[in-house]
Amino acid sequence: MESPDFNQIIDRHNSGSVKWDFLNRYLHLNETDLLPMWVSDFDFQCPKEVLQALSSRIDHGIFGYSERDDLYYQAAIDWFSRRHKLTLHRDWFTSIEGVIPGLALLIQMLSKPGEGVIVQGPYYSSFAKVITMNGRAVIENPLLEDIEGYKIDYDHLEHILEQHRPPLLLLCNPHNPTGRCWDRDELLQLLILCKRYGTTVISDEIWADLILPWGKFTSILHLGNEWHSHVIAATSASKTFGLASLRISNFIIPDRTFRQAFNDRLNAHGLDVFNSLSMTAATAAYQYGDTWLDKLQDYLAENRDWFEQALASSVPWCRMTKAEGTYLAWLDCRNLGLDDNTLQQLLIQKAKIAVSMGYSFGDKGKGFIRINLGCPRQYLEKAISGLAQLTT
Ligand SMILES: Cc1ncc(COP(=O)(O)O)c(C=O)c1O
Repeated sequence: MESPDFNQIIDRHNSGSVKWDFLNRYLHLNETDLLPMWVSDFDFQCPKEVLQALSSRIDHGIFGYSERDDLYYQAAIDWFSRRHKLTLHRDWFTSIEGVIPGLALLIQMLSKPGEGVIVQGPYYSSFAKVITMNGRAVIENPLLEDIEGYKIDYDHLEHILEQHRPPLLLLCNPHNPTGRCWDRDELLQLLILCKRYGTTVISDEIWADLILPWGKFTSILHLGNEWHSHVIAATSASKTFGLASLRISNFIIPDRTFRQAFNDRLNAHGLDVFNSLSMTAATAAYQYGDTWLDKLQDYLAENRDWFEQALASSVPWCRMTKAEGTYLAWLDCRNLGLDDNTLQQLLIQKAKIAVSMGYSFGDKGKGFIRINLGCPRQYLEKAISGLAQLTT
């Protein structure tokens, strides 16, 4: 198989892309000359092996009802064993077309209307959406920020656990938007506290495969069997291989009762039928995607290094948060001393880039922006020249 060329520019306009075609609908931006660096999907083609598998499946030509087969689950189990030294049992797996829909079902299943769900701010905005639109409340445990990066505030966590007794904590690991990978000790401390107050931890690990060379991913499931009745992990081939619109995810639920309840909810919503193309794509990705992913990770690490250096020399007011995973750059713009609306206007009018504004990640995001580095280097060059123009 030929080597992937991540520098290749592929026009994504008119492909139904949220990131490229729907800035108006989602961000209310009419400008047509903006470089989209917001939604977290990358601008690379997925591995050739995946395209070939999809092409053969399409040639077959029949798209009747389909089910996740053993080949898919085995490919996923082997992937986690190979890439993450994580032993998963077939029984624990259940699948749904997307992480966010699965989180919604779990929130409905494991909490009552009006109850709270803890998130670590700055938090991914879809977490807040899925919590509040299901009639639950967001309880924020803001991360502590220091020169080393972001840390979990355990004192505050204990305080809110005691005060609200929330049934759920929604963890993001690696963390969107900061790129932190929580280590074993951090996870253990969190689990000890949550268990003490009867709070189940749902760990959204959709970014688990996109780790930087200096980072290390630890799944909540690495912590061992003793925690299995208190944890659920969500993963997906979608973020790793750029398959988000095909809709697929794994919910790994070691606890039998939780798993049964989740499967019942899938049935209750008629979500027990699956898209055959997503399964074909994800199976091929898990089976044959290692080399492609290794190269992607190298490219993303180079992109990050390049961007950080370019910021330091051309955009001195902007500080990039140290990340261990993801292709997201969480940029501190507070040195500019601007309010978020003014910052947003300048990003559009002068820098000509569409970013995710930090305030959409809650109060802890004010004064920050999130930029997607999952793109050909040329786009980063454009973004840097735009940002350099912002203060002129
Ligand atoms: C932490 C996190 N969870 C879930 C999702 C989306 O998952 P899905 O598209 O499978 O619903 C994203 C996408 O950016 C994400 O960052």
